[in-house]
Amino acid sequence: MCGIFSYFGPKTNIEELITGGLMNLEYRGYDSWGIAYKTAQGIEIEKEIGKISDRVLSNNSQDTGLETNIAIGHSRWATHGGVTQANAHPHFSADKNIVLVHNGIIENFFELKEELKKGGVEFVSETDTEVFAHLISLYLHEGFEEAVKKALAKVHGRFAIVVICKDENKLIAARVGSPLIVGIDKEQNEYFIASDIPAFLKHTKDVMYLDDGQMVTIDQNGAHFYDMESGKRIEKRIVTIDWDLESAEKGDFAHFMIKEITEQKNTLHRAINQDAGLILELAECIKNAYGTFLIGCGTAGKVCMVAEYLFAHVAKRHINVAFGSEFNHYKHFIKDKSLMIAVSQSGETADTLEAIEVAKGKGANIASILNVETSTMARISDFVLPVKAGPEKAVASTKVTTSQIAILTLLAYALADRLEEGEQLLIAAAGQINDMLNPRYERHIKALADKIYHSESMYIIGKDMNYPIALEAAIKLQEVSYIHAEGFAGGELKHGPIALISEGTPVIAIVANDEYKQEILSNAMEIKARGGYIIGVSPENSEIFDYWIKVPDAGNASPIVNIIPIQILAYYLSLLRENNPDMPRNLAKSVTVK
Ligand code: M6R
Repeated sequence: MCGIFSYFGPKTNIEELITGGLMNLEYRGYDSWGIAYKTAQGIEIEKEIGKISDRVLSNNSQDTGLETNIAIGHSRWATHGGVTQANAHPHFSADKNIVLVHNGIIENFFELKEELKKGGVEFVSETDTEVFAHLISLYLHEGFEEAVKKALAKVHGRFAIVVICKDENKLIAARVGSPLIVGIDKEQNEYFIASDIPAFLKHTKDVMYLDDGQMVTIDQNGAHFYDMESGKRIEKRIVTIDWDLESAEKGDFAHFMIKEITEQKNTLHRAINQDAGLILELAECIKNAYGTFLIGCGTAGKVCMVAEYLFAHVAKRHINVAFGSEFNHYKHFIKDKSLMIAVSQSGETADTLEAIEVAKGKGANIASILNVETSTMARISDFVLPVKAGPEKAVASTKVTTSQIAILTLLAYALADRLEEGEQLLIAAAGQINDMLNPRYERHIKALADKIYHSESMYIIGKDMNYPIALEAAIKLQEVSYIHAEGFAGGELKHGPIALISEGTPVIAIVANDEYKQEILSNAMEIKARGGYIIGVSPENSEIFDYWIKVPDAGNASPIVNIIPIQILAYYLSLLRENNPDMPRNLAKSVTVK
C-alpha cells in the first residue's frame, strides 16, 4: 500500500506537482503524506497527518535555486508505527544526507534497528523505513549507488523505495515486490517514478517498467536500469500506454464510487466484447489442466466463489477456490500440469502474488484475470485475460467486480462449448443493467438508505451462486458504511446466526428466479417471524418483503445484476453516515503487504 511519486526535471512548481501526483495515488493510502525536495542548501521536508487532498497549497512556488528539480512524495497507509507526523514519509538518515520514501515492509527491520542502535544511531520514528535511510547513509562513503545496493542486500521483504542524496543530482529507485513505474518525457528531459501510472498520466504516457530485483538511477544523462545484485545494466523499452485522463477523473460525479457504479452501463459490454480467442484458449487450458485453482482476495475472492458455482452448473467442472492468504494448504496438490487462475483488480495484491509464486515454483501454468494490465501479476503470468473496466479508483470495487464475473461466466460457457449462449446471456444482462441504472432507481435505493442508516447491524442472505454475492454485499456495506454487516448462506441461518435477529434488524434477501427461490423465501420468512426487516432484491415482489428492490431476471447472470443495487445502497449509507465512500477508514485500494 502507500503511494510513491517522485520527480526529476525542469519543472519548478514542486509543491503543486508532487501534491497533484500524490492525490492520484491516494487510493493506496491516505493517513498521512510528505514531500522532500532538493534545494541549493540541502533537502527540505514537509509532512503532515491527514489526506494530501486536504492540503492547502501555499502561493509560493519554491525556488530551489536548482536547474533540475528533484523531489519525492509519499501518501501513507500505516503498517509499522501509528499515524503520526514522525512516522509519515519521507524519512531522513540521522546525518540528513539521505532521504527516502518506501512502500511495503522490511521483515528483518527489528534486527537491523537493534544493530544500528548499537552503532549509536538514534531513531526518530517507529517505522521500518527509517532503517533503510540509516543503512544507506552508513555506506555512503562507497558512493550513492553502491550504498543503496549494499543497504538493499541487507533488508528482507517486499518493498519499493525512492531515494535522494544531499550531494547528488540523481534519484535512485529500487523494487522488490512492490510496484514502481518510470514515466518519461524525453522532450522535457523529465522523469517521474510512481507506484502507479495515474500519478503522472497528466504529464506523460510513456513508461518504462521496473521489475523485481531491479534498480534505476535517474540523472542528467537519463534513466539507467540495472540488476541490484549483479549490477548488470538492463536495457528498457519505452511503452506508450493508452489510458485516457478523463477515465481516471471524477468528472461531474460527487465520488468515484458512484461514477464507477454508473459506468457498469458500459464496462460490462467491454468485458463481453472480450477477445473470444483468449476465452477459448483459457478454457482449453482448464480442460487440459491437472487441477485448476482459482484465487483472489477480498471481493476478487468472492468473484472466484461465484465462478465455482458457475463452472459446476454450466460446465459440470470442479475448480478449487481459495483466498490468496488461505492458499497454502493447496500447495501440496499443485503439479507442473496444474493451472492457477488469479483474479485481481490491481494485479498487485501481495497475498495473491505469493500464491502465484508458490504455484510457479511448482511449475504450474499461471493465468490471470486483471484490470490493471501493466501490473506485476500481468507480468508474471503466462496468460492474461484483461477485464478492460478502466481505472477503478474508489477503494470499494464495483465495476471491476461485475466485469470479472462476466468474464468468468464466459469462461464457464466456453468450457461447456456454449460460448455464444454465454455471450447472449451477458448481452441481455448488460441491456437490463443499462435500463436499471437510472436516477429513479437510485432514489428508490436512497429512500431505503434513509430508513436504515442508523442500524447497528445488517445481514444478507443468498443461495447457490448468490451466496458469494451475499458475502460480497457484506464487504461493500462494511467498507463504506461501517455498519456491521455479514453475509450468510440462507440455509445456514437457522444453524446459529438467526440468534442475531431482533425487532427491526435489516436483512437483505437475494432471491433469484431460480430453483432455490422458494427455499430462500422460506429463510426470509423465518427471519421475518423473528422481527427482521426484509429487503428483497429480486425480479418479483413478495409479501414477505418489507422493501422491494427490483432487479432484472438475468438467469445465470443474476450475481452480476444482484450486486449492483447493493453497491448503490452501500454508497448512500456511507453518505448518510458522513463517511468518505472513496477513501474508507483503515483501508487502501491495493493491499501490497501481507
Ligand atoms: O486488487 P485486488 O482485486 O487483488 O484486491 C483484492 C481486495 O483487496 C479487494 O477486492 C478489496 O476487498 C476491495 N476493496 C473490495 O471492495
